[in-house]
Amino acid sequence: MADNKLTVSIIKADVGGFVGHSSVHPALLEKAGERLAKAKADGLVIDYRVGYVGDDTSLIMTHKNGVDAEPIHRFAWETFEEMTEVAREYAQYGAGQDLLVEAFSGNVRGMGPGVAEMDIEERPSEPIICFLADKTEPGAWNYPLFKMFGDPFNTAGLVIDPGMTTGFSFEIHDLINKRKLLLTLPEDYYSLLMFIGAPGRYVIKHVFRNSDNMITAVTSTQKLSLIAGRYVGKDDPVMIVRCQSGLPAVGEVLEPFSMPYMVAGWMRGSHHGPIMPTSFEDCHPSRFDGPPRVVAYGFQLAHGKLIGPRDMFEDIAFDGARRQCLEVADYIRRHGPFEPHRLGHDEMEYTTMPHLMEKFESKFEPSDD
Ligand code: F6R
Ligand code: MG
Ligand code: MG
Repeated sequence: MADNKLTVSIIKADVGGFVGHSSVHPALLEKAGERLAKAKADGLVIDYRVGYVGDDTSLIMTHKNGVDAEPIHRFAWETFEEMTEVAREYAQYGAGQDLLVEAFSGNVRGMGPGVAEMDIEERPSEPIICFLADKTEPGAWNYPLFKMFGDPFNTAGLVIDPGMTTGFSFEIHDLINKRKLLLTLPEDYYSLLMFIGAPGRYVIKHVFRNSDNMITAVTSTQKLSLIAGRYVGKDDPVMIVRCQSGLPAVGEVLEPFSMPYMVAGWMRGSHHGPIMPTSFEDCHPSRFDGPPRVVAYGFQLAHGKLIGPRDMFEDIAFDGARRQCLEVADYIRRHGPFEPHRLGHDEMEYTTMPHLMEKFESKFEPSDD
């Protein structure tokens, strides 16, 4: 790879919760740190940070191996295996829960962990934000990505910055039929919303700048229930966004989270609830196993080194969103097991519900309506 070519990877998993599904025990984070320090000493990665939100650990890495690289994926898998051993020793809840297969084979995709990675040419100054979320699903990034890269009411640069006025393209993945579609803004504005407004099925995987095809954002799109063929909770996604100099500014990238929009997830991965942007300190969901959380790790890249993180949602300017989130949480919680708090029937198909309903199958009688 040329000097400024670089891969930024986040590989994440939940390999055991402390207490229940609320957070990660420090001993697990320590194990991840030890492994990453060795990988850095061995030259496998240039730099790293251990990120966390709720019961999920993110290995944030920079390296020269490219996306989907076997050595990086194998390293991440083995790190989660070693963390699982610690989780078992401490009898952590759901130890090894996201390691869905017995043995690693080439790439963690389809094996449980979530992955977001991109190959970039590091700019002279390269601000990036790594977003990590808990108690929700990959489609949770649709709303903020649209706001950042598509909505001039959010991103002033789409109107003001000549580097951005030609817009951005969005690669959407259909998670059910396993196919993808590239839509370009501003031309496909309405059509894009038709798809991404259904975040349980259509998720934005990549965003590119139209003027030069530069990759500007990537998300993890793994859906555990579709991999495992049974209910295994939600998928607690991650995302990497590049900022500034002809891209949305850091403040434009964070702005969508000033609205605690509704996501699917929360208790038992089966409820709608507002997502709350929090500081690193407040990222441990406990009320009704939620509400869903998002944290933002801000970095400046310096020749592959991760300078940071800055805790971007620590800013008191997000207090309003947090307050509103809690009000909405109170309101929607009062619906108990009723939709739209509980997920719609289609989505509950991927849970234990069909099994529970089976026992009434033989008791149904024809009705007149
Ligand atoms: C949601 C989540 C939790 C669990 C809940 C029940 O993604 O992880 O809300 O679904 O705590 O957990 P089990 O079934 O393990 O008792
Ligand atoms: Mg868990
Ligand atoms: Mg989680």
